[in-house]
Amino acid sequence: MTKYTSVFDMKGKTFDDFMRKYGDIFNPRFVDLEYYKAYYLGKYDETIPIFNYLKQHYNIDSVVYPGSFIHLAPSYAFSNVTYIDKYEHVDDFFEDPDVLKYISLHKIYEEETKMTFINEAYEKQNGQYDLMISSNGGPVSLECFDLLKDGGLLLVNNGHSDADNAFDNEKLTFLGYFNVKGDHKTVEFVTEGKSKKSETYYLFKK
Ligand SMILES: C[S@@+](CC[C@H](N)C(=O)[O-])C[C@H]1O[C@@H](n2cnc3c(N)ncnc32)[C@H](O)[C@@H]1O
Repeated sequence: MTKYTSVFDMKGKTFDDFMRKYGDIFNPRFVDLEYYKAYYLGKYDETIPIFNYLKQHYNIDSVVYPGSFIHLAPSYAFSNVTYIDKYEHVDDFFEDPDVLKYISLHKIYEEETKMTFINEAYEKQNGQYDLMISSNGGPVSLECFDLLKDGGLLLVNNGHSDADNAFDNEKLTFLGYFNVKGDHKTVEFVTEGKSKKSETYYLFKK
């Protein structure tokens, strides 16, 4: 089994080579599949079992991910995902044949993968989606509230306090939160209590 080294664990020459190539961990001058794997640990990303769970337990056809950067994990579980990010060095990452091949090797659905990348600010977007993802990308639940269909789901973490925004929003109903086990593959959906202090993802319904 291939093991990927996270950029956050790299040392010495490996780290120097990474920095020479991309310029910066958080603001790379360009992105590619290698950068994605080093940043997100490829298929060991712990959000992957969360998306798998959502796919298996809810009727979700369309997904929007404002402030996505190149976090393509939803596309392993969902065939139709719209990514929105204003970061200017993403270029054609979402159309890169290496990236598409990587997804096709790990996706859990039969259909062809459709990834739409909107390289703009997320505040002025249109559309209605079954699932919206807010992960370390600013106040997405506030700014993009209208992108979520009535009855749609919001998956949100508190990296940028957006879970707090969601808990304060009377139009959203808290359904539960996710515990990802140490193997990064198993997930437990917890419906008792709010666990607002833990680093995790929370699920709401509009
Ligand atoms: C810290 S990264 C998080 C990336 C990814 N969601 C994750 O959890 O790993 C935040 C991203 O949000 C994007 N972002 C912040 N504000 C935005 C806005 N108003 N419109 C579009 N993208 C935005 C940034 O460009 C950046 O790529």
